[in-house]
Amino acid sequence: MATRATYGSFQFDFLTSAGTVTVNDSLDLLAQFMGVQEPVEALTNLAMDGSLSLQRALEERLAIIDCTPADIQRFIVEHPPASRLVPGIKELITALQARGVAVYLISGGFRELILPIAAHLGIPKGNVFANRMNWQWDDETGAPTKLVGFDTSEPTAHNQGKPQAIARIRQRNPYNTVVMIGDGITDLEAVQTTGGADLFIGYGGVVERPAVAAEAEWYVYDYKALVDSLARYRVAMIGSGAWACAVVRMMAQNTKVDDPADEFVDEIRMWVYEEDYQGRKLTEVINETHENPKYFPGFHLGDNVVAVPSIEEAADGADLIVLCAPHQFVHGICKQLMGKVKPDAAAISLTKGMRVRPEGPQLISQMVRRYLNIDCAVLMGANIATDIGREQLSEAVIGYDNLDQAERFKKLFERPYFRIGLLPDPVGAEMCGTLKNIVALGAGMVDGLGLGPNSKATIIRQGLVEMRRFSRALYPSVREDTFLECCGVGDLVATCYGGRNRLVAEAWTRAHMDGSPRTFEELESELLKGQKLQGVLTSNEVQEILRKRHWEQDYPLFTTINRIINGYLTPKFVVDYEAGCTFSDPATAEGSDDD
Ligand code: NAD
Ligand code: 13P
Repeated sequence: MATRATYGSFQFDFLTSAGTVTVNDSLDLLAQFMGVQEPVEALTNLAMDGSLSLQRALEERLAIIDCTPADIQRFIVEHPPASRLVPGIKELITALQARGVAVYLISGGFRELILPIAAHLGIPKGNVFANRMNWQWDDETGAPTKLVGFDTSEPTAHNQGKPQAIARIRQRNPYNTVVMIGDGITDLEAVQTTGGADLFIGYGGVVERPAVAAEAEWYVYDYKALVDSLARYRVAMIGSGAWACAVVRMMAQNTKVDDPADEFVDEIRMWVYEEDYQGRKLTEVINETHENPKYFPGFHLGDNVVAVPSIEEAADGADLIVLCAPHQFVHGICKQLMGKVKPDAAAISLTKGMRVRPEGPQLISQMVRRYLNIDCAVLMGANIATDIGREQLSEAVIGYDNLDQAERFKKLFERPYFRIGLLPDPVGAEMCGTLKNIVALGAGMVDGLGLGPNSKATIIRQGLVEMRRFSRALYPSVREDTFLECCGVGDLVATCYGGRNRLVAEAWTRAHMDGSPRTFEELESELLKGQKLQGVLTSNEVQEILRKRHWEQDYPLFTTINRIINGYLTPKFVVDYEAGCTFSDPATAEGSDDD
């Protein structure tokens, strides 16, 4: 038997009786419209209290009402659905449907009267159980003229009809849990019968029936109580650099909304790698100012973002875990989170980079899956953090295996200026995000050499070719089209013109050409002020794979860039990459551990 707690969980389906949806019984209102209110209402009450059989009550009420189809049409115009709804029911149904809960409507009344209400509430016709009126048809005109009773074959025509309707619903869809909400004795039957509903919620907002209140597992007078009790996803951000902050800011705007369809807990905990900032703890400064002055200065993150120095505390109880740390730290992060995340949580990685182990490459999403034992999607795109902070138009894709999770993450991230597409090629998307950082170094070298856009375009084009070749060589299932997405060519263009890898590689090349060489580490700390460069590490990691597999000649640009950053070739070779890769492998020549 389900309990009230079941309702708060994410998996259930919902059946609501007509009496809990409208402020007045449809048939009573029709009776009023037809001028026969009193006798019909008396019969309704007898049926709801269980003292008269449903079928007889319906027959007697219809006989008294004695309406025509034209009367029904006029009745619907005079009493439009919006004027008849119980306060809060539309919000409740919206909130349930936003969570993927199937909502059904069951009425002891008639389809002709209830369908306009269902349509207004967004309940599909096929999810409505109600009786059908029978009409006498005119021999001459072929049109219905007179009401002559109703179709008694529908489950709703009889007592015990609601459990039968539930049995039909279960036949169609083997739901885990069916929750029934109602206000009458016949609604209660729905849960008191084997195979019926798993949980009954009594509603006393229109009519309070003591017998129903006494038996209900949970009795409410206001639907807000039900909306407020719905489970919401708790979000954690693991990381607090520039991109992590730009994303947490968008998520915080999306989680803090006054909307019944909102599926997210307002508060987002953000794990911050603790450090001193001007003599104070960075987490304290973030929580006081709601800004990250070191990594993302000038942007309000949102009052609902809470910076925490403990990674366990940040991830504790989170349903959705967003990972965004420089790739060299993710292995350590995963080890710290092992066994600390909810088993049914879902993750998404925003990190661009990969890990190379002796046994082969490992994508960050694979690492997360392996260590945390949860699904991990990726979000990749042409996304320079500060431009997104300034709310400039940008695109990303969510590379996914699990579509439901991807759709949920899309809701979490999407803003009017941040467009998200769903891409069923998570590996391809992640490979694009990883490899474009190598090409960006090449673009920076072109800039450092003082060359123009033609040369940069050549590097970008060749880079794209090698990104695609390498990704498909490692992971043959990667799709060709992925490289034309915003995570492929889009990100290449953005990073090769506006990224940090480009910036540092340009400065490095200039220093080299001026005869006063600087290291990447020096320039990283000087120009990026704590932010991290991913391209140099990635180039070395990818080169290790190329070398081991004897693929270097197939990737002349990647190989040449790697030889330049390691000081084996001068930066000028970036525009002569075919020649750059023909020299014998310096790492091998110097006795590397290559096989
Ligand atoms: P960042 O480079 O701005 O900041 C570095 C982060 O690393 C800081 O949060 C710092 O606290 C943290 N850090 C430093 N030492 C650490 C340690 N030992 N352990 C754990 N964390 C440590 O970070 P970012 O821009 O958010 O980048 C994260 C990932 O997002 C990278 O893979 C990057 O390629 C990717 N990305 C960045 C951008 C961007 O515009 N910045 C855009 C898209 C993707
Ligand atoms: P950089 O790390 O080179 O700034 O690139 C950021 C990025 O990935 C933009 O999509």
